[in-house]
Amino acid sequence: MARPIYLDYNGTTPHAPEVIDAMLPYLHNEFGNPSSSHAYGLDPKQAIVEARAQVAGILGCSSSEILFTSGGTESNNHALKSIAGAGYAKGNHIITTVIEHPAILKVCGFMEDHGFAITLLPVDTDGLVKPSDVAAAIRPDTIMISIMHANNEVGTLQPIAEIAELARQHHIMMHTDAAQSVGKIPTLVDDLNVDLLSVAGHKVYAPKGIGALYIRDGIYAESFCHGAGQENGRRAGTENVLEIVGLGKACEIAAVELEMRGGGMQEMRDRLEEGVAAALTDIRFNGHREHRLPNTSSVSFKGLEANRILAEISSDVAASAGAACHADQVEISHVLTAMQVPEEWAKGTLRFSTGRFTTKDEIDRALEVIVEAVKRLRK
Ligand SMILES: Cc1ncc(COP(=O)(O)O)c(C=O)c1O
Repeated sequence: MARPIYLDYNGTTPHAPEVIDAMLPYLHNEFGNPSSSHAYGLDPKQAIVEARAQVAGILGCSSSEILFTSGGTESNNHALKSIAGAGYAKGNHIITTVIEHPAILKVCGFMEDHGFAITLLPVDTDGLVKPSDVAAAIRPDTIMISIMHANNEVGTLQPIAEIAELARQHHIMMHTDAAQSVGKIPTLVDDLNVDLLSVAGHKVYAPKGIGALYIRDGIYAESFCHGAGQENGRRAGTENVLEIVGLGKACEIAAVELEMRGGGMQEMRDRLEEGVAAALTDIRFNGHREHRLPNTSSVSFKGLEANRILAEISSDVAASAGAACHADQVEISHVLTAMQVPEEWAKGTLRFSTGRFTTKDEIDRALEVIVEAVKRLRK
């Protein structure tokens, strides 16, 4: 039986065939420990060097500034707990936003329980943070500003460079969670003006369980995991060579394809949005119209429940919900809540996200299924 059309690339991506090919030797012959000085260690050690340069390539930084981690969550934890945490003597205040991924919000909650002060900035109805709100939140004891580059639910892009400039003026470290933007839009660290940036491998056609943290040279980073001296003493444990190679390859091809890939994803996303808008009434799109990821569409179907629509289309289309309804209770996502999307709209919100492999035929078929399902449910 054919599997549903995959429109959940923000959830995760399939492995790129080039990534699989690059990883194969490390599943077979090249099993050596990169720390071994004998022959078996040589290739894996060199492969890590290459992968580090490939990841550095898409971020426009040097290899020494890349730390391999287990994914976006760990990179965010590391940035906040080990790097901001190390600045405790200078101050204990961190600024972030209400629309971050739980991999930031929950870490901040934990740090608050351990003596840090956290400011959660609001967003406007497009999901944008105002730089003037950031400026107003800065205090003498602020040690870090952490604001996501692209929102995973609605795709809104934040004015990171402008906010980073404020951080720089006040000698505050600037982190951005770029799990959703790397590989979709340019993410050069110097253009973004950030000190720290999180990458998640499985959003960029590499496997799950691998990621990276960019740490600008000169920033003191405490070891996140103590043990032997891997990753320059910043993250102990024998390296995940297989997936590091996969992440390197994924970043290499994403950097080359960036413009073409962005254009393709956007064409498919726009085709979907135009089709939905032409066929249905009482729909709205969430997220900033212009400052938005090219692949993400958050659509609210007024008066419906997201899970019911998903159930109705599940054998043909894979997407995700922006709200969950249990019995007579509705749990609306923290992002839609922060954007003040009214409940009658928010509870019927789906996220569609296109990717490298999305085709016109898939979009046209998905459109038919979605439109029919919504009309049926509204009857
Ligand atoms: C914005 C954002 N940050 C962090 C993460 C977590 O990344 P990982 O799944 O690699 O831990 C995700 C994953 O959905 C994300 O969308």
